[in-house]
Amino acid sequence: MDIVEVIKQRKSIRAFKPTPVPQEVLSRIAELALRAPSWANTQPWELAIVSGAKLEAIKEAFSTQHGARALPDFPGPEEFPEAYKNRFQNLAAKMSEAAKKGRRGKKAGEWYLQGPRLYGAPAAIYILIDRSFFEQRVGLNVYPVFDCGLLAQNIMLLATDHGLGTIIQAQAVHYPNVLRRMLGLPDSKLVLVGIAIGYPDWEDPINEFRSDREPVDSLVKWYGFD
Ligand SMILES: Cc1cc2nc3c(=O)[nH]c(=O)nc-3n(C[C@H](O)[C@H](O)[C@H](O)COP(=O)(O)O)c2cc1C
Repeated sequence: MDIVEVIKQRKSIRAFKPTPVPQEVLSRIAELALRAPSWANTQPWELAIVSGAKLEAIKEAFSTQHGARALPDFPGPEEFPEAYKNRFQNLAAKMSEAAKKGRRGKKAGEWYLQGPRLYGAPAAIYILIDRSFFEQRVGLNVYPVFDCGLLAQNIMLLATDHGLGTIIQAQAVHYPNVLRRMLGLPDSKLVLVGIAIGYPDWEDPINEFRSDREPVDSLVKWYGFD
């Protein structure tokens, strides 16, 4: 698929078919995605790609934990200045309207377990950062996080090109100690984010809505073009 088409098609998918994603497809996506640029080519990432019974056990553990205080390695924002709050609320409104129509939103409470259950995705790609490169003697080195964002977008675009859907999820890493324990990872591996991946369930209305974007002119300023 043409890159423009891939960028246009990618969107967060919140209902997946249970059909497994072949390991060779995930392997191809990982190999190409890892061509992402990074600070001085430090490649400050590792991937844990999980499927099958192991992932089902993780989903179970996360839905059991759901509601308990999240203790992510990379905490989310506590404050949303007005502009960001408006965008967040706009998304939440669209999502909850679509969830009510969605198959999985029909029973009370069921929708809220979909996030910890990776929206039913049959595979997940967790992005890990070594603690030693993030936590510096003085302060934090944010560049591994930045670089992993580039990797994550590569993964999601390549998945789209393979007819797969994705959603990058902070929720997927709310309990990193659970992930470390279940995946046998040492404490030195920080879990940045998870990407749920699978074949989209296009029958589910939750996948119908598209998130908004601000008008380009409000975000882009031009200099030196006159
Ligand atoms: C770092 C990050 C974490 C996210 N975490 C979640 C999440 O936990 N649950 C969720 O439903 N969406 C999550 N999202 C998806 C965003 O809501 C989504 O990307 C945004 O609304 C734009 O929509 P689009 O991806 O369909 O273009 C996350 C996105 C990013 C970049």
